[in-house]
Amino acid sequence: MPTIRERDREVIWHPYTPMKAWPEAIAIVKGEGVWLVDEDGNRYLDAISSWWVNLHGHSHPYIVQKVSEQAALLEHCIFAGFTHEPAVRLAERLLDILPGKPSKIFYSDNGSTAVEVAIKMSLQYWNNKGKKKKKLIALQNAYHGDTFGAMAVSGRSIFTEAFTDFLFDVAFIPFPSAGSSAASIAALEALLQQNDVAAFIVEPLVQGSAGMCMYGPEILEAYFALCKKYDTLIIADEVMTGFGRTGPLFACNSIETSPDIVCLSKGLTGGAMPLGVTACSQDIFDAFYDDDRTKMLYHGHSFTANPTICAAALASLDLLLQDGCTESRLRIYDAHKAFAETINTHPAIAEVRQTGTIIAIEFKTDTPSYHHSMRDVMYRFFIDKKIILRPIGNVIYLLPPYCIGNNELELAYAAIREFLEQL
Ligand SMILES: Cc1ncc(COP(=O)(O)O)c(C=O)c1O
Repeated sequence: MPTIRERDREVIWHPYTPMKAWPEAIAIVKGEGVWLVDEDGNRYLDAISSWWVNLHGHSHPYIVQKVSEQAALLEHCIFAGFTHEPAVRLAERLLDILPGKPSKIFYSDNGSTAVEVAIKMSLQYWNNKGKKKKKLIALQNAYHGDTFGAMAVSGRSIFTEAFTDFLFDVAFIPFPSAGSSAASIAALEALLQQNDVAAFIVEPLVQGSAGMCMYGPEILEAYFALCKKYDTLIIADEVMTGFGRTGPLFACNSIETSPDIVCLSKGLTGGAMPLGVTACSQDIFDAFYDDDRTKMLYHGHSFTANPTICAAALASLDLLLQDGCTESRLRIYDAHKAFAETINTHPAIAEVRQTGTIIAIEFKTDTPSYHHSMRDVMYRFFIDKKIILRPIGNVIYLLPPYCIGNNELELAYAAIREFLEQL
């Protein structure tokens, strides 16, 4: 009998995988808490929450129960002209906790579609109002997804190289690294002064795919305050940072000024199922609320607001809002902080950075890049130790599910220490 891994090789094309260099995929047959179990019975510590989605552990019994109850009642139905309790309840609950208390929830399928909707909403908002604001601003090295609009507002990189000619123009401001935040803020203001900017899109506090690059809330506040001053919409892409990764429920909770649009996905369902949300202000919704049908938002997906998936999101919110979850996030924060202090003077390390439950270790290299040879060395080192750490170039990071225990964190720290010792 061929194994799943062998059968996979014949028929599957994996995402973000150099299929020639990495033909073998590990076949997972079971998930339990922070552990993934493969077909040979090996247990892997999921230290990156399976691409940053999982909040409460794999196959969490409470989420599984709520999903199966909903699937037995109503698994799916069309969401144009129809609605259902899970979608309405989820929207009510999200609107209650989202920064800036937005007014409306638009559902889609994943992080990229949540961003596509946000881009379309903001461009059409100004169009509907008869104002010539067509420019979008983003941060250098940003990552907002893999569909074309989301790629356009993402930094130009190896991810987008083959499509450069097909991406619409976006103005990029420098990332606010230490010493250059004033220049970044000034660059934003210079662009906003031209009075033709539809929206500024940003990953608040942490640029995930860029290599967990972090900046302070005072910079985010300065960006947002400028956008308000120059009447430009703010899109906060909280696809990765949302649902507690940076400490508070949302990264934008760390500042006073609120975004006009918030994009959510990943942790929205506790990582159990795919769902995208684009939340917007009443003012944005009102610009589409018209007898003139050219002003409506022409966007929708077959599985918009799938009730089974909304049930997963509701169950995940129940778990997220328990005191125990807040305490776990604080515990992870403290553990990362103590660990950082033990390694941050290592000569091979350029920088250790932390925001909330995310810790990133950047190694010194002459030529940092996504495909740096160090990446594969590190990936294999940790996989051999049955720890899933998917480095981004010369950066490794831990972004664990909140249910991770101290002893499980220690397993990851010990493996990193061992890696450092052999450098
Ligand atoms: C900030 C951010 N936005 C959008 C996306 C795209 O989300 P998805 O992979 O669900 O399309 C990601 C994915 O990593 C992300 O980190």
